[in-house]
Amino acid sequence: MSLAHHALKSLTLSGFGTRQQDLLFRSTSHRTMPTYVLTGANRGLGLEFVRQISSDSANTVIAAVRSLQGELDDLKQLASTAAGTVHILECNTGDLQSIRAFGDAVKQPLAGSGGGSKQIDYLLNNAGINATPEQSSLDMTAESLRNHIDVNVMGPAETVKVLLPYLGQGSVVMNMTSGLGSCGKKLPKCTTYSISKAAVNMLTVHQSEQLKDRGIKAICMDPGWVKTRMGGEGAILEPDVSIGGMLKTLHGLKDSDTGKFYTYTGDEVPW
Ligand SMILES: NC(=O)c1ccc[n+]([C@@H]2O[C@H](COP(=O)([O-])OP(=O)(O)OC[C@H]3O[C@@H](n4cnc5c(N)ncnc54)[C@H](OP(=O)(O)O)[C@@H]3O)[C@@H](O)[C@H]2O)c1
Repeated sequence: MSLAHHALKSLTLSGFGTRQQDLLFRSTSHRTMPTYVLTGANRGLGLEFVRQISSDSANTVIAAVRSLQGELDDLKQLASTAAGTVHILECNTGDLQSIRAFGDAVKQPLAGSGGGSKQIDYLLNNAGINATPEQSSLDMTAESLRNHIDVNVMGPAETVKVLLPYLGQGSVVMNMTSGLGSCGKKLPKCTTYSISKAAVNMLTVHQSEQLKDRGIKAICMDPGWVKTRMGGEGAILEPDVSIGGMLKTLHGLKDSDTGKFYTYTGDEVPW
């Protein structure tokens, strides 16, 4: 916990019992010292999310990566110099056991000093794959579809399930989708990826309905066509532009926005 965090907490809480202090702290701190959880944090759009979020010393980011043995140099470098706090944990979103282990591992960085826990303000389900872009509807395979559903749909679904104890009033769940998940756009390839992104859109609608009584918003976002390994050479957007727009949109959400599909510009996308 940072010195500023300690100072704010002791200022806010003098005169309360420990349990009351923790509840009060949990209900107020997320507005001024927000906590973000992000999957797929080691490269591409995930790394840019970490870069922008951790540039503010008030922010904490739990940066989840597929494997702690993976390609982590850039993320570790960023974490070591960031103004904010960055915790690097493992979460393979295609593996239920790994997601459950992540649910246990977040307890430590989310621990509040009164024995309770801090709230997650933004859960950014960013990790994703587009492993068989060459497949069309005429030659797609069940194996490819299963793989995309596991990582791109069940990943965000299971992550929300295990992190539910840390989500509450004002929390936002953002599922990273794609323009290819919109039935309003017609593209002949990337069929299994597109199906998985259309499915994560529908998952978002269901999550928004089931979470709204708890004051939690769920939305999905298309980052645009961005220069990352997945976006490829022809992509048109720089990651900082895409992620800057997404964060601005996320920070401006109202309760009535839950269940919607946005682009990085904040415009709504046709389902
Ligand atoms: N770039 C675009 O133009 C574009 C457009 C629309 C939507 N999107 C979406 O944006 C998100 C990020 O894409 P990107 O462009 O940054 O892609 P990327 O450059 O390929 O990066 C993908 C990230 O996801 C992680 N990942 C993949 N499988 C995972 C798993 N099973 N568990 C945990 N992490 C996993 C990767 O980790 P490893 O390094 O360990 O593989 C990597 O950090 C994806 O959901 C993608 O569908 C991107």
